[in-house]
Amino acid sequence: MRSKTSMALLSLLLLAGWALIWPETSSGQETAVIKLPPPQQEGGKPLMECLKLRQSQREFSPDKLSPRVLSNLLWAAYGINRPDSGKRTAPSAVNWQNIDLYLATADGLFLYEARDHSLIQVLKEDIRGLTGTQDFVKIAPVNLVYVGDYARIPRGSDEDKRFYSGAHAAFISQNVYLFCASEGLATVVRALINREELARVMKLRPEQKIMLAQTVGYPKK
Ligand SMILES: Cc1cc2nc3c(=O)[nH]c(=O)nc-3n(C[C@H](O)[C@H](O)[C@H](O)COP(=O)(O)O)c2cc1C
Repeated sequence: MRSKTSMALLSLLLLAGWALIWPETSSGQETAVIKLPPPQQEGGKPLMECLKLRQSQREFSPDKLSPRVLSNLLWAAYGINRPDSGKRTAPSAVNWQNIDLYLATADGLFLYEARDHSLIQVLKEDIRGLTGTQDFVKIAPVNLVYVGDYARIPRGSDEDKRFYSGAHAAFISQNVYLFCASEGLATVVRALINREELARVMKLRPEQKIMLAQTVGYPKK
């Protein structure tokens, strides 16, 4: 039975727009699944204004993104915009959808699960500093990591799979750029990554390749 304190904590988190479930994995370890608040699919600045404002920024405030902003960011980036077909805000060749979107935050590493618009906790450690070689990655609240799963592309050479995965990651990245322009957030997409080390820490399979990373946060005041 849950204690009064943990019930109070759970209610507080729910009030803040989060829902936490703690299922057991097959290995017996606890995995947190964080249900994000429903994304707001209306509003924002007009597209032409977003295109006018789109830019890379490299100075970030450490302020965290609220669950609402995070929810909207992830849906804009790579959410399902046509529930009937499960298709997303970013295109992919043959609808392979072979990019997995990870988030490195101070609270750990999470995988975005678009089907139920939730985050699955993969690591509890803060690995933001390992998502890039530039100093700001440690300060910004969110570093997105775009991982291409070659196993989800059923044909072609590794070069073909690299091409498709790079293109798929780039479409998601531009969605993030436009969302950030609309919301007054700072962002920069990054290829400067120690991929070998990051893949090891993220415990990726050999067919999972890190394509790009992208830092998101509020501009430094
Ligand atoms: C594929 C790619 C990789 C990039 N890698 C980095 C990077 O590792 N670090 C960085 O600070 N900026 C990186 N950038 C951002 C570019 O430097 C930036 O887009 C460019 O200077 C143009 O500026 P703008 O985005 O403000 O138009 C990258 C951009 C792209 C498209």
